[in-house]
Amino acid sequence: MTRRSEDYGAEASCVIPLSKLDVSEGKRFQDDSIWTCFERLRKEDPVHYCQDSAHGPYWSVTKYRDIVAVDTNHKAFSSEQGVTIVDVPGEHWTPSFIKMGPPKHAEQRNTVSPIVGPESLTKLESLIRSRVRAILAGLPRNEAFNWVDMVSIELTTQMLATLFDFPFEDRRLLTYWSNVAVTAPKAGHAIDSWDKRSTILSECLDYFTRLWNERIKAEPRLDLISLMAHSPATRQMEPSEFLGNLILLIVGGNDTTRNSITGGLLFMNQYPSELRKLIDNPELISSAVSEIIRYQTPIAHMRRTAAIDSIVGGKQIRKGDKVVMWYISGNRDEEIIENANSFVIDRKNVRQHLSFGFGIHRCLGRHLAELQLRVLWEEILSAGLWFEVVGEPERIASNFVHGYSALPVRIAA
Ligand code: HEM
Repeated sequence: MTRRSEDYGAEASCVIPLSKLDVSEGKRFQDDSIWTCFERLRKEDPVHYCQDSAHGPYWSVTKYRDIVAVDTNHKAFSSEQGVTIVDVPGEHWTPSFIKMGPPKHAEQRNTVSPIVGPESLTKLESLIRSRVRAILAGLPRNEAFNWVDMVSIELTTQMLATLFDFPFEDRRLLTYWSNVAVTAPKAGHAIDSWDKRSTILSECLDYFTRLWNERIKAEPRLDLISLMAHSPATRQMEPSEFLGNLILLIVGGNDTTRNSITGGLLFMNQYPSELRKLIDNPELISSAVSEIIRYQTPIAHMRRTAAIDSIVGGKQIRKGDKVVMWYISGNRDEEIIENANSFVIDRKNVRQHLSFGFGIHRCLGRHLAELQLRVLWEEILSAGLWFEVVGEPERIASNFVHGYSALPVRIAA
């Protein structure tokens, strides 16, 4: 069995002077050793100042209640200087509605929200179901395969292509642009400079500009490009703002659900008694979906910048300070969530988690994400299929997208 996050061992202990503790290092997420550091911060220094990091000084907010207090106070904690710990250089900055406050934020959010409204979701459910069936039916029978690529990416990328009404045969471009968009450039890596990242993303902008030019001439339809092209709130956007909103919607719809799909399969393998519970009580699927999303926490953090001086968890925050809300830590806060380090599909108040954020920027696509996961699990159970994890998962070295690049599995006999 793969190692569970609640069983992290001594090799993952967090023995470092508090003043030097920097929880933003990507390698701690990649080797899954981050848990003890957050546990220590929640106990010893819940609102922690890190003076020196690759991203400059920043505050870590690690407990559930403090995170909710910051997330619901957009006047004191603004997203306008960015929502990740990384500071994007000015010339590469792309505005988007997650980085805006009222009233423009609400105008743009309301423009695209019909795509995840009740009417749209009802239509999408049968499409998702037929796609899930086709994907499950096409999986290799007698050999190991990568669940991330063949199921998680495939299902979420197909959905994203539908939301944009994007040419289906080119859909893997969406996966590619999503991966590039969330990569902070690093020497020696495929994306080694901000210029390189911007060059690739400008290809994304060009492609979508062609679609925009077609849609603007046509009657309004229910797809993300048409919604934006025909709305007074978005039809005058500068190219950089169009790109920013595209990246928001592509990453929002892609990486998050993808990693919940992978996490769910991994956790059910790590906790066979929970899988048994689910097989015996399929009515628990919706509850299991919420628990998967809490336990995975696909977006590890959101960042804000203090717009005024204020106090959080007894600490004095000054105007201009960078404040990082670690959802991944708040979701393991034992003061709010009993037995928080364990995966329990029928826990009390299962929807009480931080994975979708709170306040004006609370996730727009959360019902769609839950729908995709629910249908997937309904279909796995009704097909009587089981997938055995046959190797360690490969995790992404990111402090923002908490997820996987590979999970080897095999269909169990
Ligand atoms: C915002 C998580 C799926 C689109 C957010 C935020 C989080 C989040 C943490 C920011 C909340 C805040 O700042 O308070 C997730 C998770 C998902 C998921 C965990 C899946 C399990 C989706 C999907 C879509 C989507 C499927 C698109 C269809 C968005 C958008 C925003 C957002 C557009 C910005 C909302 C705003 O600024 O008003 N999401 N998301 N998300 N999400 Fe999701």
